[in-house]
Amino acid sequence: MPYAHITGWGMAVPEKVLTNDDLSRMIDTNDEWIRDHTGIRERHIARENEFPSTLAVAAAIKALQVANLKPTDIDLIICSTSSPEHIFPATACLIQDQLGASRAGAFDLSAACTGFIFATNMAAQSIRSGSIKTALVIGAETLSRFVDWQDRNTCILFGDGAGAFVLQASDQPGGVLSAVMHSDGSGGDSLSLPAGGSRFPANEATIHEGKHYIHMDGRAVFRFATRVMGHAAKEALELAGLTTDDVQWIIPHQANYRIIETAAKYLKLPLDRFVINVDRYGNTSTASIPIATVEAIEKGLIKKGDKIVFVGFGAGLTWGALTADWTGPLPTERRVHPESYRTWARVRSWLLRVARLIEGLIWGRES
Ligand code: COA
Repeated sequence: MPYAHITGWGMAVPEKVLTNDDLSRMIDTNDEWIRDHTGIRERHIARENEFPSTLAVAAAIKALQVANLKPTDIDLIICSTSSPEHIFPATACLIQDQLGASRAGAFDLSAACTGFIFATNMAAQSIRSGSIKTALVIGAETLSRFVDWQDRNTCILFGDGAGAFVLQASDQPGGVLSAVMHSDGSGGDSLSLPAGGSRFPANEATIHEGKHYIHMDGRAVFRFATRVMGHAAKEALELAGLTTDDVQWIIPHQANYRIIETAAKYLKLPLDRFVINVDRYGNTSTASIPIATVEAIEKGLIKKGDKIVFVGFGAGLTWGALTADWTGPLPTERRVHPESYRTWARVRSWLLRVARLIEGLIWGRES
């Protein structure tokens, strides 16, 4: 049975930064309150021409570069997102098209901030079963588009960004070792975006009632997160036959510094074994774990052979953890530059559109 190794990684965030002081000029809040209650100092916010797919493609190209793969090597793309560009088509399909990953099947996965863990596990299981060899897993969000900028309970928390992993099959032991996935739909109301789906399709009333914004019971979510996070990490470790002593790094979902502190206490681990960057990005939802991972790698913190626990929680309610034996890129001889495939991807995409148009005209004339 092949092993599923994480062989590539990349991240992208919008250029525009919104600091706590900027927020204090928009609503009744201040830098001290936000830092004390969340640990957040600033977050990146998408401009009008930035979308989950554009951030995802930028992150994916970097991940493919690290893995030394071209877009056409990918068998499967899973995009975890809670801010998809449309109800359908899936954001993953937009990414597939923009990348020119013509061989890949692509779909979105909706598990809120836990999504990247669920998606990485799904990709790893597809590799372990032998059904695919190479997967691109992406967490991409522009939740800023769904935030009520008048609601100081939520608008201070979220930021935009994307992170990507490449997973590849190898006979060498290692890679993803274990994962646990949990859900409790009875708590769904504590963090939701009620309208825009088929229960409350957009209309004047839903807009008037602000149902297209994120609604959150902050205290309930805080209690839930502190209850499940450390426990999920322990479960995944046990499943892999490991203990916290074997682990070099815990990479948690970056929602709130105080939640991470509580998880550290539960696991009896010092905070310096946790990768934390919530101060500079806020809560980028499903993108937060890969973004934190990429930063840790770029700082030289993560080394080949390190055991890592990824752990997250979010709306749904959902929570989960995944352990990995860090390997890095697989040995390969060729050098590829995935960026150079983008022009071809655009040309290919237009040619396919023209071909469909001509096909439609021919069929129309014949029928
Ligand atoms: N600036 C200033 N004051 C604020 C504020 C803000 N941005 N937001 C809330 N307050 C005020 C409240 O109105 C309240 O005032 P009151 O006591 O006069 O009524 C006071 O601060 C305390 O509010 P409370 O909601 O109890 O604060 P808290 O310590 O629970 O912190 C959160 C609020 C949202 C930061 C915290 O509950 C949290 O992080 N929850 C988890 C959220 C999360 O992670 N969501 C995403 C999950 S993926």
